[in-house]
Amino acid sequence: MEVADLIAAHVVDVPDFPKPGVLFKDLTPLFGDGPTLRACADAIVAAAGPFDLVAGIEARGFIVAAAVAYATGTGVIPVRKAGKLPGPTTTITYELEYGTATLEIPERAGLADRRVLLVDDVLATGGTVVAASELLWRGGGRVVGVSVVLELAALGGRSRIANTHSNLPIHAL
Ligand code: PRP
Repeated sequence: MEVADLIAAHVVDVPDFPKPGVLFKDLTPLFGDGPTLRACADAIVAAAGPFDLVAGIEARGFIVAAAVAYATGTGVIPVRKAGKLPGPTTTITYELEYGTATLEIPERAGLADRRVLLVDDVLATGGTVVAASELLWRGGGRVVGVSVVLELAALGGRSRIANTHSNLPIHAL
């Protein structure tokens, strides 16, 4: 089966989660199926150019990032939500539809001049990827690509990323 078909067979739409009006894409069946998780990691690796380090975005992005890292023998840098890392950290605060959010990376993760593949489970509005990418650059890394399992194309994330990081390859399975 093609990876896109495997993904489609292992994603469940959950209406009104986490709040009314939102259709949540639940990837837990995908993460729970070994062959599908492996196929996703392998497809991300196959589509990506060379990289030295995988950045995963908390929390579901960690699962994908670890699988990609294992498949390639690279390490993982966690892009964490506020207050989870002991420091020293590099931090970015960005705008949400209502309010702001903060992401952090550890300074001792060996990011300097490394080629970083930024990985997440879902690309929606793109706000998280734009902020994470900016954060990784600020931390001294070189973001060479973005890979996600699922892209919600109607939410415009791809063009939002292109507006800020114009030559950054974005790949969705
Ligand atoms: C989800 C998803 C992405 C982000 C995409 O994470 O895993 O990280 O939202 O949204 P955007 O493209 O509109 O920024 P969530 O904040 O639900 O965190 P979780 O992985 O901890 O559930």
